[in-house]
Amino acid sequence: MSEVTPDIIELARRYLSQTFEMEGQGVALENLTREATLEALRAMPAESTDSGSGCQKSSSTGTRGGHSPGISDVEILEAKDFEVLSELVARCTRCSLHEERNRSVFGEGAIDARVVCVGEAPGAKEDETGRPFVGRAGQLLDRLLLSIGLPRETVYICNVLKSRPPRNRDPLPEEVEACSPYLIRQLDIIQPEVILAFGAFATRTLLQTKLALGRLRGRVHEYGGYPVVATYHPAALLRNPAWVRPTWEDLQIVRSMLDGDRAHA
Ligand code: URA
Repeated sequence: MSEVTPDIIELARRYLSQTFEMEGQGVALENLTREATLEALRAMPAESTDSGSGCQKSSSTGTRGGHSPGISDVEILEAKDFEVLSELVARCTRCSLHEERNRSVFGEGAIDARVVCVGEAPGAKEDETGRPFVGRAGQLLDRLLLSIGLPRETVYICNVLKSRPPRNRDPLPEEVEACSPYLIRQLDIIQPEVILAFGAFATRTLLQTKLALGRLRGRVHEYGGYPVVATYHPAALLRNPAWVRPTWEDLQIVRSMLDGDRAHA
């Protein structure tokens, strides 16, 4: 076991926010392996690793209090399968969104999916049913996926946030930080061939950029070793039919990647 120095603890703390820079599955942060990171997180006092409310200010040691008992980053990253992970999401109080939600929305689809679709956050219908993308935008999403030969049940569908922001307001950075480990673990369990990011929010979160979606779509990016194709959110297409064509082109990129055409990569 490696010695748990303050440096390693600091590295471990940055692990989650920097996973966007991870190269491959096993390495994070300047040669610190995933195992060493988890070990360092485990060695920290419980109150320092509990994420508590993402909406509370972090202390200098990174403790975020407010809600208890919190689910720690380690618990999430070590969840052995979707059953365990979805139970964590169902009782999650890591940010204040749990106070107003009716149901958390973990995600659904094929565990061996080649494509993972990532949206922003549940809306009213999703909050009511506990299922992702089941409202009008979801129906359009289903049709878009079918247009490239992917019936809904063959992909995996989830969101950056697992709880609905009140009145569908934009997610707050602390909510994203609190919820991101779930998405990271979902992706690591599925290990998709392609991540399809729908909308500016999911795209910017995954790619850690502030660039406009119009500048990010149309090519292949990378997140944690997985190829990412970004395109317009189905809800935006309902408002802007002119974006249907570029969305269709983005979906063709996904199709050709699945068909083994590496020209886009
Ligand atoms: N919009 C999203 O981003 N996700 C959903 O699940 C529904 C609507």
